[in-house]
Amino acid sequence: MSATVITVTSGKGGVGKTTTTAAFGAALALAGHRVCVVDFDMGLRNLDLVMGVEKRVVYDFLHVADGTASLGQALVRDKRVPNLFLLATSQTADKDALTPAGIDHVMNLLRAEFDYILCDSPAGIEHGAMMALQHADHALVICNPEVTSVRDADRIMGYIAARSRRAQAGLAPVREHLVVTRFSEDRARRGEMLSLAEIQDILAMPLLGVIPDSPQVLRASNAGRPASLDAASAPGRAYRAACARFLQDTRPVAARAPQAPGFLAALAETAQRGLLRRLFRTA
Ligand SMILES: Nc1ncnc2c1ncn2[C@@H]1O[C@H](COP(=O)(O)OP(=O)(O)OP(=O)(O)O)[C@@H](O)[C@H]1O
Ligand SMILES: [Mg+2]
Repeated sequence: MSATVITVTSGKGGVGKTTTTAAFGAALALAGHRVCVVDFDMGLRNLDLVMGVEKRVVYDFLHVADGTASLGQALVRDKRVPNLFLLATSQTADKDALTPAGIDHVMNLLRAEFDYILCDSPAGIEHGAMMALQHADHALVICNPEVTSVRDADRIMGYIAARSRRAQAGLAPVREHLVVTRFSEDRARRGEMLSLAEIQDILAMPLLGVIPDSPQVLRASNAGRPASLDAASAPGRAYRAACARFLQDTRPVAARAPQAPGFLAALAETAQRGLLRRLFRTA
């Protein structure tokens, strides 16, 4: 097995990276893949809480990196989706404890065990965010419909292009996918937030998903339940649709369906019909 590495990144803080890592990871696992979500947000450690496994974390990333624990000892298996695992981050305040060599070691172990590895980045463009980008094959760029978030997403795209292992080794570039979170069609219509067309104009990146702004997301986080596990909620459906779109878009060309009606149908459930019509008019 050699995993595909997906880094969830944004530049700006608090836009939904950890929420998306948990929800997208769970959706990939529900689709039958063996998935590990990895927390790179050292010192803060939120992903285990959002996944609802915080009480079962004994060893973390640094323990595996320095050989104190084996990967098997450190991985926490989800009780609801058995092919979903978490590797927690360390709570040490020393952010430089995460070295490129340590990350290479852990990622090589993970690559041999999983289909997909999702790396949750810390906010900003400092050391931790760059470490989370190192091994990326794909980047989910998370953006809220506001100018500062779009600007920071644009900046992080520059770093992905320059700093990832793929860029440095001269391999095919990291594939970027835009996920707009906390979107409200009504507020965009009233001009209180950016529209999807405006965001795409600035970022020029394929739109993978639109996650509605919904109190159900916070409720799911507080309950330690990735939002995608709830197929009846609008955010749950939106995350599942984004995952289906990702699997469709990244399938080998010969295996791809001629079109992706499933994604459009699902997007139509979360964004409203009028929005889609407008999008296509501007396309
Ligand atoms: N679609 C959504 N609707 C409503 N609230 C949301 C949505 N997505 C995320 N949130 C809320 O926004 C807050 C920040 O989310 P999250 O922790 O996932 O962001 P983050 O980018 O990981 O933050 P940080 O940069 O601090 O790591 C949380 O309270 C979360 O519940
Ligand atoms: Mg986070």
